[in-house]
Parts: sequence; C-alpha cells; structure tokens
Amino acid sequence: GPPLRTLASEKGLRFGSAMSSGQLDDAKYREIMLFECGTMVAENEHKWYTIFPDPDTVNFAPADRLATFAGENGLTMRGHTLLWHREMWSPEWVNALEFSSASETADFVEQKISLIVDRYAPAIYAWDVVNEAIDDETGEFRQTSLSAKMGEQLIDHAFHVAKAHAPDATLTYNDFMSWESTSAAHRTGVLRFLERLKARGVPIDGLGLQSHSNYEMPNEFTRARQRDWVAFCDEVVGMGLDIYITEFDVNDTRLKPDIAYRDALIASYTRDYFDLMLAYPQLKEVLVWGMVDDQNWLQTFLPRTDDVEKRPTVYDSDYKAKSMRRALADAF
Ligand code: XIL
Repeated sequence: GPPLRTLASEKGLRFGSAMSSGQLDDAKYREIMLFECGTMVAENEHKWYTIFPDPDTVNFAPADRLATFAGENGLTMRGHTLLWHREMWSPEWVNALEFSSASETADFVEQKISLIVDRYAPAIYAWDVVNEAIDDETGEFRQTSLSAKMGEQLIDHAFHVAKAHAPDATLTYNDFMSWESTSAAHRTGVLRFLERLKARGVPIDGLGLQSHSNYEMPNEFTRARQRDWVAFCDEVVGMGLDIYITEFDVNDTRLKPDIAYRDALIASYTRDYFDLMLAYPQLKEVLVWGMVDDQNWLQTFLPRTDDVEKRPTVYDSDYKAKSMRRALADAF
C-alpha cells in the first residue's frame, strides 16, 4: 500500500520515526525510513548526554550526520530534547553542578540550549523543549541541580531561550504518557503544570504524548483508563494546546510469547489508540519510536523475562511489515 506518510498527510498529519546515527549504516533501515516517513527525530543525538558528555566536550558529529541524511533526502526533522529534566538521563557532571544563583543557572542553560538550537535552526521545525519534568508517580515537578536555584522558572527559561533562537519552531513539552499506564497523579500533575506555564505566558505550542504503551487484554480496567485519558486530552486541547504522538511503541511484556497472538493484540491495540487520537483535530503529528523490532530500545531497556524478542514496532526484525503497520494505515 501507500507509505504511512502519504496516508497520514491526507489527514493533515506528519508521520515519522526515531532514527539513530548508527541506523544510517543500515541500508534496509534507511530504505524503510525513506519509504514510510516524512519526518524523523534523533533517538539520542540531540540529548545533552550525547552533545555534552563532559564539561569540555561538544559532540555534534552524530546529530550532524542525521541532519545531513534528512536534508539530502527531503525528510523534515523534529528535535528531541533541549532539557531532559530528570537526573536519571542527565549527564553526571551536570547533576553534580552546584550553582550559586538563579541567574548563574540561567546563563548556563541558555548557553547549552542556544548552542544546540542555533546549529540546527531553521531545519528543525519543532523542539521537545522540555522532557519529563513531572514525576510520573507523584505528579510533582522534579528537582535537579538545574532547578535548585530556579525552581520551575527553569522551564520557562528553556522555552524562552528556544523561542528566541528558533522563533518559527513549534515548541513542545513532552512526557512519558500513554492511555493505559499513566497514573491519575501524573495526569493531574501535567495538567496543572501546563496551566502554570500558560498563565506565565510561556511560549508553548503543545504537549507531546510519548505513548510508550504497555498492553493488556481489553477489559473494564482499560476502558476506565480510556475515559480518563480522553478527559485528560480534552483538558489539554481546551487550553489551546496542540497534541503530538511522539514516541509510539508497544511493550508486549505482559503478553504470552506466541507471535500471531501478540501481533494480533498489538495491532488491535494500535488501531484503538489511533482511532481515539485521530478524533482530535489538534493532533498534528505521529512519530513511532523506531521502525524495526530488534532495534527498538525496549529489547535492552525492558527485556521480557522469558528472553523472547519483543515486537514493539511496525516492521519485524527481517524488515517485513507487520499487522501493526496495517493497523496504523487503516487508522489513517
Ligand atoms: C531512549 C532511547 O531510545 C535509548 O536508546 C536511550 O538509551 C534512552 O532513551 N522517552 C524519551 C526518549 O523521551 O528519549 C527515550 O529514548 C525513551 C523514553
């Protein structure tokens, strides 16, 4: 059938995937990217831990390679992320910093963010300015070495710096959320956080819903979750914000290993989720977190306990389209 990007664009949506610089050397992966995707996002190459691995190094080489590939092949590029506000994913040397004042912190953050944005503006049309600033268990704003003196003003500052350096880019807050595994505290925390940003006049255009999904059989439990999720999305768009699905994949950890069984459930889950989300005219983009099963991050980050390979993406490890792809195509 036609490429996913073509089907998505008929609905006014961009479709794309994450890609790593290592995958540039995989001819089959490149071919799938170029066939299916209109846009791409760097899996790790724009993150501080790649660009600023230590205080004295600036490493743009992997991100430059991806930018060249995108530019030469007519792919647009989403940027991820200017501030991963979570010590678990922030360079150790940044976590260890002790700032003496808010303004000293602000200068440091401005220097780092503007270095990244300036290098890739205007080619990058959207930035996940801030990633995962709200604790997914408590709904509280996370504390890091960078928020110690600035508090939540740190977030405002990151958005203002991004706006100043990429005035035409869409600016997003991105968080680890999906319909079936997001807690009430997390949803509420994100809503109040977004309201505070809006009230302070922060230049934010929308919310990125990562949508790393953890599937179980449909039952009353997931139907209740679905109602909560719709109520959450309604409130987000009610604030005048757009929404983006930024990192869709399906963690099949809880499903028994039989491949046909897993794929059928994953496809039906995918269809249900996208039917729900495509009802929002405010949904502007759909990105999946990788195109090929054995290259997806969940294989190593959250392996199945039975050592069976997960099937989280649209193509299997032999680069063959799966029923999940059909589900996406049908939903578009
Ligand atoms: C993941 C990458 O896929 C991994 O390669 C890396 O080790 C950790 O980060 N939420 C995000 C993404 O916003 O940046 C994460 O990507 C997946 C979860």
